[in-house]
Amino acid sequence: QWHGAVSDVYSPVCIPSPDGTLQRKLVGSFPVTGPTEAVEALDAAVGAYNNGRGEWPQMSVAARIGCMDTFVGKMLEQKKLVVNLIMWEIGKNLADATKEFDRTVSYIYDTIDTLKTMDRNSSRFRIEEGIIGQIRRSPLGVVLAMGPFNYPLNETYTTLIPAILMGNTILFKTPKHGSLLHYPLLEAFRTSFPKGVVNSLYGRGADVIPPVMQSGKVNVLTLIGSSRVADQLQRQHPKLNRLRSIMSLDAKNAAIILPDADLNVAVSECLLGTLSFNGQRCTAIKIIWAHRSIADKFLAQFGSEVSKLKPGMPWDAGVQITPLPEPSKPDYLADCIRDAEAGGASIMNAGGGDVSASLFKPAVVYPVKEGMKLYREEQFGPIIPVVVYDDVEEFIEYLITDDHGMQASIFGKDTAEIARLIDPLVNLVSRVNINAQCQRGPDTFPFTGRKDSAEGTLSVEDALRSFSIRSAVATKDT
Ligand code: G3H
Repeated sequence: QWHGAVSDVYSPVCIPSPDGTLQRKLVGSFPVTGPTEAVEALDAAVGAYNNGRGEWPQMSVAARIGCMDTFVGKMLEQKKLVVNLIMWEIGKNLADATKEFDRTVSYIYDTIDTLKTMDRNSSRFRIEEGIIGQIRRSPLGVVLAMGPFNYPLNETYTTLIPAILMGNTILFKTPKHGSLLHYPLLEAFRTSFPKGVVNSLYGRGADVIPPVMQSGKVNVLTLIGSSRVADQLQRQHPKLNRLRSIMSLDAKNAAIILPDADLNVAVSECLLGTLSFNGQRCTAIKIIWAHRSIADKFLAQFGSEVSKLKPGMPWDAGVQITPLPEPSKPDYLADCIRDAEAGGASIMNAGGGDVSASLFKPAVVYPVKEGMKLYREEQFGPIIPVVVYDDVEEFIEYLITDDHGMQASIFGKDTAEIARLIDPLVNLVSRVNINAQCQRGPDTFPFTGRKDSAEGTLSVEDALRSFSIRSAVATKDT
């Protein structure tokens, strides 16, 4: 149900306006849901779940998988349009937008296969202490899912899809940037699943989320976004302690370049790690620690590769640096650079930090030190702070004192030295990458974090577990 308001969507891609300035191009609009429609959508999800007695939670796993197969078939028909909208709405380049779509489809198929195995295992009976037990995986209820703008399709679906498959009913809020691209898929949801199973919320989070959370009817909150928003949302729920939360949040992933590192490997992996999609990935490397003995060499090589990256429009061949969707981001990044320069750091690559409307040329900033914004803040954009160190203990101490704990990368050749670092690091972050960039994939790997970086774990299998509960049917063996 929709009662009338519309919101315009502006692309990060800018075009000249009549006064000669570059302005974000209007690419579409969507009907905005307000508090009334949000509560209606919630009621639809609650009704479809019906305390576990609804058609969907009662349906067999095989039948649910059948609905999901139908959905994927319809989703594939929309590929061209969705990829196009990813480019226009968030400025992701063609190769990465296509990868996002394909990766999402693979994720759904992998989830289906994993669920089939889990279901086969759970249908076995066991006898213990004179009790015959069947251990099942049961749904949790109503799930509120919120995805981020940087992977508006993939990340949203890595929570949505397992939640649906486990028999829950869903309310999903589309990201602020990256709403239109969900449109072509709503009809596929509507025609593949029973009524009320998947419900979407378009509009300002501040309007639609409070009435939903305050109702106390949401059983699971899943968010890929910031810890600030996570805290706000959780506080709105009247029974916070009963709310299950599965969240991937802030990160300040750090890479360390050891004195003996192969600099070609370190440079190429750090280039991908820091600047894929302009550094707008929770898993991006957001600070590099270079040993004093190789810092100059690393900076020269890395800075030169950064300067070669091609800026342009998302659909242009070979473009790596594209317009930034968040209108306030270029100013924020410029402010981070000013702050670092005031503390004695400099931009190390030619043209770094140049801005033209929503395009921001990546900047390598060195030497970044404690007290500068770039030392602790998650810049989530194309700035690469580099710190110089003498002793690896400084790096470990940085991770200990940081509020984040998602991933880290180690670049080096001495396996004994790397092994000495892995043990402390793996207890501070949730994934340590050796001679490789930080990243989420493969999606079968646990995707989580410590401290302010996550709550719960996502992966193909972990997500299916997260959105369900083990229950038992127990019969006395008489
Ligand atoms: O923004 C976080 C994404 O999950 C990153 O995924 O590391 O595969 O690019 P990725």
